[in-house]
Amino acid sequence: MSDQTMYNYKVVRQFSIMTVVWGVVGMLVGVIIAAQLIWPELNLAPWLAYGRLRPLHTNAVVFAFGGSALFATSYYVVQRTCHARLFSDALAAFTFWGWQAVIVLAAITLPLGYTTSKEYAELEWPIDILITLVWVAYAVVFFGTLARRRIPHIYVANWFFGAYILTIALLHVVNSAEIPVTLWKSYSAYSGVQDAMVQWWYGHNAVGFFLTAGFLGIMYYFIPKQAERPIYSYRLSVVHFWALIFTYMWAGPHHLHYTALPDWAQSLGMVFSLILLAPSWGGMINGIMTLSGAWHKLRTDPILKFLITSLSFYGMSTFEGPMMSIKTVNALSHYTDWTIGHVHSGALGWVAMVSIGAIYYLIPRLFGRGEMHSMKLVTTHFWVATVGVVLYIAAMWIAGVMQGLMWRAVNPDGTLTYSFAEAVKAMYPYYMVRLLGGVLFLSGMLIMAYNVWKTVAGQKAVDDARIPDVKLAHA
Ligand code: HEM
Ligand code: HEM
Repeated sequence: MSDQTMYNYKVVRQFSIMTVVWGVVGMLVGVIIAAQLIWPELNLAPWLAYGRLRPLHTNAVVFAFGGSALFATSYYVVQRTCHARLFSDALAAFTFWGWQAVIVLAAITLPLGYTTSKEYAELEWPIDILITLVWVAYAVVFFGTLARRRIPHIYVANWFFGAYILTIALLHVVNSAEIPVTLWKSYSAYSGVQDAMVQWWYGHNAVGFFLTAGFLGIMYYFIPKQAERPIYSYRLSVVHFWALIFTYMWAGPHHLHYTALPDWAQSLGMVFSLILLAPSWGGMINGIMTLSGAWHKLRTDPILKFLITSLSFYGMSTFEGPMMSIKTVNALSHYTDWTIGHVHSGALGWVAMVSIGAIYYLIPRLFGRGEMHSMKLVTTHFWVATVGVVLYIAAMWIAGVMQGLMWRAVNPDGTLTYSFAEAVKAMYPYYMVRLLGGVLFLSGMLIMAYNVWKTVAGQKAVDDARIPDVKLAHA
């Protein structure tokens, strides 16, 4: 076998294992902050306070867990669909160790209170520079591999991965423009409403390109593979791609309704968010319909269950998002737990479920085993996780709508019907249900960690499993 055809699976293995590790860590922090919202006495020390652990949770789940899943899958998919080895092993190794260093630095600096205070971009400037270096290396490896492909066609999953890599580079560099004053303190280069607009242009497109486009890349490869069916419509996938990336860029202002942002910009954000429903559902339908003629597989294949259920949650959250971006609806939902419910139907239901499905697909192939150590445990994981997400988001919907209604209720004489503390008190039962949902989801991750350990232990790493390629698209 020539060096050209032997794939670099080492880096895929490393990122796959770290996906599971960071998934457990990030969700454990999620469970801790969910408990702190019920029992404030759990704020045991300044570095364990809710305000410091919350950004640690978001960074750990989005960038460490989600990021590792994206690195693993994009490196795997680009090699297999291009029939080419990664462009540079050294640069690929640098992206692995560099990304882990970013995560470890985040885990140290955030609890210590070092933060830019920009949501999802809290890390201070020295870490921002490291992220930039890692990301440029990532782009070189990914696009370099595409350039040395042995088949003329670029499969659609790579389009989504490519868009996510390019856009995140742009978003990170523009939003992180800052003036350092000391080693661990900087100030944003923007101020006032411009700062807010740049931040939410970044924030929303982080959702659109990190939490969506990259994971759609996963969907477009792993669903046809696991279902052993070509993608339902290749033409729809191309329309889906262009419509989605064009529309997402304009929707950011829906995070700034009723602020100092000019009204026309808010309305523009709302309109583009409503339009976004169409490409989002186009993509979901394309994924789900890939199962045409193979629906029976859903009954027995827990990996497919993860992948297809993730798409249902994707459909749900991309219906809910456009609704929440309507200004009058946002007047009720903003600042409430409804947003938190929306976030987690996307984050747990879509991002985590699709990643889990893909990692279960990858692990046996990367370690030369037919399948996971226990498929029964994969099924258990599926059910525990699904019940967990449903409990989490249902509790947050009820809590959110209740909060919104309590805050705006007024007596005939114009005074507020409820004090803020009364609204907080009313949340306790729902916060308990959310905690239970979170504990279930975390237990699922622990089951996965055990199953992965048993699958990998004593196995030899494999660099080219030579799995017969199923056709991904109709000719
Ligand atoms: C065991 C699972 C999880 C639990 C228990 C959990 C819990 C929480 C809690 C309690 C908050 C703070 C809510 C608030 O401020 O009122 C939060 C915020 C957040 N979580 Fe999670 N989480 C989990 C998994 C995840 C995953 C897998 C992701 C992403 C892939 C994620 C992304 C986020 C984001 C983005 C926020 C910030 C939302 C906002 O600012 O509106 N979470 N989570
Ligand atoms: C068509 C697609 C979507 C639209 C139009 C949309 C729209 C919205 C809206 C209107 C908000 C509330 C903003 C506010 O009141 O502050 C929001 C918040 C959020 N959404 Fe979505 N959403 C979509 C899909 C998704 C998906 C798939 C995910 C996750 C994978 C997601 C993650 C988030 C996060 C993390 C926030 C909280 C941001 C923050 O305040 O920290 N969204 N979204």
